[in-house]
Amino acid sequence: MIYGERVRLRAIEREDIPRFVQWLNDPEVIAGLMVTLPMSSWDETRWFESKASQPAEERPLAIDVRTPDGGWKHIGNLGLEGIEWMNRAASFGIFIGEKTFWNQGYGSEATRLALKHGFETLNLNRIFLHVYESNPRAMRAYEKVGFVKEGIMREARYINGVYINVVLMSVLRSEWDKLPEA
Ligand SMILES: CC(C)(COP(=O)(O)OP(=O)(O)OC[C@H]1O[C@@H](n2cnc3c(N)ncnc32)[C@H](O)[C@@H]1OP(=O)(O)O)[C@@H](O)C(=O)NCCC(=O)NCCS
Repeated sequence: MIYGERVRLRAIEREDIPRFVQWLNDPEVIAGLMVTLPMSSWDETRWFESKASQPAEERPLAIDVRTPDGGWKHIGNLGLEGIEWMNRAASFGIFIGEKTFWNQGYGSEATRLALKHGFETLNLNRIFLHVYESNPRAMRAYEKVGFVKEGIMREARYINGVYINVVLMSVLRSEWDKLPEA
């Protein structure tokens, strides 16, 4: 497990699948994700099983938050994917499916933990992500932990009849080392 102050990152389990199905069928949650079709338990089970054949470093992690009674509650997932060992680069993705936990700093705290893990354990040099320009909450959460905008992929996604600009953001290890919270 990777522990932060209010958040921990753990391996996903088969028992988490019903929550993935619930979250990934919620239009508000998927508005910022590359998910367009209704998601079944079967889809999520196949997705879960496909992760076993991926390199361990690239498997998604569950985001748990501390509860007042001292337990943990699963609120979403994140992961580093497509690790390029020669370039020491990886892409980052996150979603919090429990909407009542949005806007309380959990997303940025979990992202900060994932960056720390990526830079200081996996020894990566560049972590990048794609975010829809129509998702200011996510962009703000990423900026808070050190991501900077690199450029815009114009009209790169077509969602609900509208083309969306996709913003490319990244953090370099040299920048991470200078951040006060790193
Ligand atoms: C994106 C996501 C991970 C962010 O996590 P979070 O816990 O909600 O974010 P945080 O609370 O850490 O930070 C959000 C910031 O955005 C700000 N914000 C919220 N709505 C905003 C808006 N409409 N415009 C500008 N800023 C906004 C918040 O005020 C906060 O900034 P602050 O701390 O300076 O006040 C989470 O909301 C989520 O999973 N959303 C659905 C899936 C998704 O979009 N994933 C990202 C795909 S790229």
